[in-house]
Amino acid sequence: MSSENIQNNKLQLLGKMTAGLLHEIRNPLSAIKLGLAHLIMIEDELPSEANETVKSSTQALERIQDLVDNVLDFSRKTAGKEQECSINEITKYSITLLHGLAFRNKILIQSSLEDNLPNLIVDKNKLLQVFINLISNAIEAFDISSTKQKKCITISTFRNKEDIVWQIKDNGIGICDSDKDKIFNDFFTKKHKGTGLGLSVCNSIIRDYNSQLLFDSELGEGTTFSVIFNSCLVKG
Ligand SMILES: Nc1ncnc2c1ncn2[C@@H]1O[C@H](COP(=O)(O)OP(=O)(O)OP(=O)(O)O)[C@@H](O)[C@H]1O
Ligand SMILES: [Mg+2]
Repeated sequence: MSSENIQNNKLQLLGKMTAGLLHEIRNPLSAIKLGLAHLIMIEDELPSEANETVKSSTQALERIQDLVDNVLDFSRKTAGKEQECSINEITKYSITLLHGLAFRNKILIQSSLEDNLPNLIVDKNKLLQVFINLISNAIEAFDISSTKQKKCITISTFRNKEDIVWQIKDNGIGICDSDKDKIFNDFFTKKHKGTGLGLSVCNSIIRDYNSQLLFDSELGEGTTFSVIFNSCLVKG
């Protein structure tokens, strides 16, 4: 993977972690504000120095709240450079980036990309990020001790009625039923070095394009993730 892409991925994860952290900070801040508002209500009963402290604390708190709101606002609006892109080109590039890693892990990546698909109007880098995260997950879905004869990942693009589908299938460890409703949660990971943000980043990018990220998995058999594009297609 190029260092620029690794950096992109890290920045995206960092942004997400910051947003999560600030979100958590907002609740206790509101609680402090309520406490101070209560002290302001009973100011007649308090010594004047205490009232001064309450006033300056309230101002400082409002300043923190503004900062938090501004950063949250900024992190939500990571507007991309939307432009007409070829889904197959981005797919080929993502495979090129991860081919070496798959090869070292003795995993075969196959692709079947349908010709003449309509272009998408998306931010190339964001979509690349989604494909890289999903392919990385597929590569990581093979147990080192796996005795499977063939570790195989198949990536395909195709038309399905009005939709364009990007799909990745692996014959890896699969996802157990009890994890299925957790994998999109922030920080859910079963990996030693995972952040558990990969799928949640993918999901929010795909949702921004009014598209869907779906999956189907059977424990011990493998997993399929599908991205269904509909409203960001260039209609021919
Ligand atoms: N193709 C897959 N096969 C099996 N399990 C998967 C697959 N994709 C995701 N998972 C499960 O979903 C969890 C969450 O995935 P996600 O990409 O969000 O985080 P991660 O891969 O653990 O960490 P990170 O992406 O930050 O490196 C994974 O830890 C894994 O348990
Ligand atoms: Mg991941």
